[in-house]
Amino acid sequence: MVIALNEPLDRHLHLRDEKMLEIGAPLSAETFSGALVMPNLVPPVTTQEAVVAYRERILGCAKNSSFTPYMTLFFRSDYTPQFLESVKEDILAIKLYPAGVTTNSDGGVEGFDLIELAPVLEAMSELQIPLCVHGETGGFVMDRESEFIPIYEKLAKNFPDLKIVMEHITTKDAVEALDRYENLYATITLHHLYITLDDVAGGLLQPHLFCKPIAKRPEDRAALLQAALKAHPKVMFGSDSAPHPREAKEAPGCAAGVFTAPIALQALAQLFDKHGALDNLQRFVSDNAKNIYSINPPKKEVVLEKTAYLVPEMYGGSVVPMFAGGTLEWRVVSAG
Ligand code: NCD
Ligand code: ZN
Repeated sequence: MVIALNEPLDRHLHLRDEKMLEIGAPLSAETFSGALVMPNLVPPVTTQEAVVAYRERILGCAKNSSFTPYMTLFFRSDYTPQFLESVKEDILAIKLYPAGVTTNSDGGVEGFDLIELAPVLEAMSELQIPLCVHGETGGFVMDRESEFIPIYEKLAKNFPDLKIVMEHITTKDAVEALDRYENLYATITLHHLYITLDDVAGGLLQPHLFCKPIAKRPEDRAALLQAALKAHPKVMFGSDSAPHPREAKEAPGCAAGVFTAPIALQALAQLFDKHGALDNLQRFVSDNAKNIYSINPPKKEVVLEKTAYLVPEMYGGSVVPMFAGGTLEWRVVSAG
């Protein structure tokens, strides 16, 4: 059995910098037509110069002229409307991190004072710059996303013309919130479609499956699966592929992030095939994102075939992917 995917898009990708970028960029560029690149570098991407320079570094490492890095800025409440207008052509979205909730998010938003955030959110709304949000509170780890839903609702209600993307949703609560507000959208990762907290910590601890937000309960995964498998029109694939060197994962104080980009399409094909939903995969990995973000990425066709594929133990001698050393039922035959 064979399927062809046109312009696969990854709507949430951590490409990092330097060695990680050299390893990750060519891998994403091989099978994806484009990716929304997260700005949580150290220091975060907050200026036009930094966006443009980062984009150049990505293109330099991607070694694939048909790959489009869609850039993001790290949200700051002191951006002026003039600044946003001048940077608009260089970015596709702005990513908001609550302070300290995940990797390199220390410079994020403290508290959610809508009065403080309003000027930037109004300007984004007017300029039609979507807001991508890492929606977690500082509460108990399993409840952080659910506790954040009222904040999403407040944002959605107060800024009805602002497109708000709930990034890497992990709960049934978030799936349900999607349909309550016209301007709420979501990305779903590969790993949250496959795993629950049991896979991370139910047996021997699996550091390579540890990420933020943490994987949740079986009923949460079921709700995510249902939305993805039917390619709910407000849902997009966003891998949240987040490489860390092996020594940062297999360590006390394990870094959060699962590396999935190079095996994502193969594993998605396996999952959609298993559930008899292969016909919807094109919408989940590309068409919905094209509509939501109004983008027209370069043409690319990725052909996958149902043949056993042995996942590498490591990439670039330092990053361990999800399913490392295991077998997936689908492999990429050609991409171009
Ligand atoms: C991401 C990273 O490492 O940059 N980590 C993660 O666990 N997902 C940041 C993020 O998206 O939360
Ligand atoms: Zn992320």
